[in-house]
Amino acid sequence: MTLSNKRILLIIGGGIAAYKSLDLIRRLRERGAAVRCIMTEAAQHFVTPLAVGALSADHVFTELFDRQDEQDVGHIRLARGADLIVVAPATADLMAKLANGLAGDLASAVLLATDRQVLMAPAMNPRMWAHPATRRNHAMLKKDAVRFVGPMRGEMAESGEAGEGRMAEPLEIVAAAEALLDDRPKPLSGRKIIVTSGPTHEPIDPVRYIANRSSGKQGHAIAAALARLGADVRLVSGPVSIADPAGVTATHVESARQMRDAVEALLPADAAVFVAAVADWRTADAAGEKIKKVAGEGPPALQMVENPDILAGVGHHAGRPLLVIGFAAETQDLLKNARAKLEKKGADLIVANDVSHGSGIGGAAGVMGGDRNRVRLVSRAGVEEWPEMTKDEVAERLAALVADRLRTIGA
Ligand code: CTP
Repeated sequence: MTLSNKRILLIIGGGIAAYKSLDLIRRLRERGAAVRCIMTEAAQHFVTPLAVGALSADHVFTELFDRQDEQDVGHIRLARGADLIVVAPATADLMAKLANGLAGDLASAVLLATDRQVLMAPAMNPRMWAHPATRRNHAMLKKDAVRFVGPMRGEMAESGEAGEGRMAEPLEIVAAAEALLDDRPKPLSGRKIIVTSGPTHEPIDPVRYIANRSSGKQGHAIAAALARLGADVRLVSGPVSIADPAGVTATHVESARQMRDAVEALLPADAAVFVAAVADWRTADAAGEKIKKVAGEGPPALQMVENPDILAGVGHHAGRPLLVIGFAAETQDLLKNARAKLEKKGADLIVANDVSHGSGIGGAAGVMGGDRNRVRLVSRAGVEEWPEMTKDEVAERLAALVADRLRTIGA
């Protein structure tokens, strides 16, 4: 169990996302963590201390001036007796309090008194998240070494409003906590690694686009696995609905050209892994206004032009990283095509997905969006076949391989 013997202090703030914190408690405990909870007064309007206590199997702390609690545990001991403090949902109010050193209630007093790592999962209305005050507080907290997971884009539970502000899913918060508590060796520390992930969107007009099918799961898992090994990971992601993994620095882009510019701006790097499903073509001229249906005129003819090949650009770049890895989704002649791609793109390794075969991962739609993957690694030295495994396992193994290669190249 990944969180065995870890003590997590979960601070539940007052927001509708507090209902997800109940599931978060379960998920953390399933992985072996002991979870102790503090609820703000506002949080108790959304979920009850009874439910939180039942799921955490522990006393729930709510008051700064509770004589019994102070005698039994005390807020200073609460603050120090954990391996990690998780704030979920982290409301605008809790962020503001910690950013400004306020300590008028139990949650904020504990956050100010702790010497432990703090992980916040913000959740609030998109306007509140975008407000200059919250922007300032977020920047200040990051400077003070508070770590963040989310928020995500999506529809708000209460207003239906869309935008950034939805709390990361419990499993994403668990993954961020695991990453922060991971005390395994860090063979990639001091290494800067670029990872591209997700699809690109190529505009046709302001409301329509062309895209590839890609959930970003494999690319994001690789970014997370590299970060767990200590790498300074720079993720360049197209539009996806999953959270930035913990411990990586992410740049969000839409189109292939934006992705190329973002990647090139990040050079030099020690390694680069190109997992993004970049659209091969874009429209020659995206319309500035929405293209209207005009009776009798039929559909518009889209003139397409080729997008830059980001991997090939980096593979043949003067400041090429020591290690360049590409992905290939093939349905036929997998090895022949992957070998040709090595040369054409200047890559050291091509991770080839066979998207043609049956079983659980069958068909493009299975690998793309699914949780499992079966890959072959094609390099100039030959081919290595990996058994079918989860995308997280592929990521772990690939990250270990990157560490190994960089060690030998560097030696
Ligand atoms: N790639 C890229 N920029 C592009 C196209 C692809 O960086 N404009 C990268 C992808 O991130 C991936 C690899 O190149 O690492 C995939 O190459 P690609 O030629 O698109 O292979 P396939 O997806 O297999 O497509 P095709 O069959 O068209 O060769």
